[in-house]
Amino acid sequence: MKKLLSLLVSSILLIGLLSACGAGSEEKNGSGAQKKVLKMGTSADYAPFEYIDTAKGNEIIGFDVDLAKMITKELGYEFEIVDMDFNGLIPALQSGKVDFVLAGMTPTKDRKKNVDFSDVYYVSRNMIVSKKGSGIKTVKDLKGKTVGVQTGSIQEEEAKKIAKTVDMKLESRNRIPELIQEIQAGRFDAAIIEDTVAKGYLQTSNGKLEGHTIPTNEQEAGSAIAFPKGSKLRDEFNKVLREKIENGEVDQLIKKWFDQ
Ligand code: ARG
Repeated sequence: MKKLLSLLVSSILLIGLLSACGAGSEEKNGSGAQKKVLKMGTSADYAPFEYIDTAKGNEIIGFDVDLAKMITKELGYEFEIVDMDFNGLIPALQSGKVDFVLAGMTPTKDRKKNVDFSDVYYVSRNMIVSKKGSGIKTVKDLKGKTVGVQTGSIQEEEAKKIAKTVDMKLESRNRIPELIQEIQAGRFDAAIIEDTVAKGYLQTSNGKLEGHTIPTNEQEAGSAIAFPKGSKLRDEFNKVLREKIENGEVDQLIKKWFDQ
């Protein structure tokens, strides 16, 4: 009799346990806890694309972050940001450390050998930034000057091209704020930076910096989302990106972040 009782008790317990388990996993499904979390690589030194507004906290914000939110939400993914130097982004895609990159990255021919890109979502040009009164307005004025660029950027490529005809000293740094600091410290005469990003520094410099747009090869001036070669995500993202470009939602983000 005792044996029977204990068997009954333990089976009741077992049933209890099993049903608890079942409910638990169902709840998980229902609350969306199974949503896939994608890792987004970026280099958060690039306001208004991606940056940390230290006055407001230490969260990474910007146009690219909003765009990632918009697209992943539509597709039912969660995402988390992995911040690194710009020149580490393509290796991070290749090694699978991140699932996609949103970093104002230009889809160049060279990069296309190693990663896949979405359509272009924004186009900008390059600017020569220097101390106010430097007299540097065009590429020719860079003769004899020390010019800074971000390591691994198309601006670095551009500067290398310019250096073939204009005798200047090229210096690379990992992060955009370093370029500005070097100019302010007088170690660089100028830097070549994307105009939308340069604009922010011109505004906050209280008139101590000036900037001049330089002609840029249209094909190598846009920003696109990058993926590991062959990633299925590229088509998924692209479909939503196209929809949102067409229905004006991307335009709204452009207004929010760039028209200030
Ligand atoms: N558009 C340029 C490039 O693709 C610069 C991008 C730099 N992005 C950044 N988050 N620092 O090379």
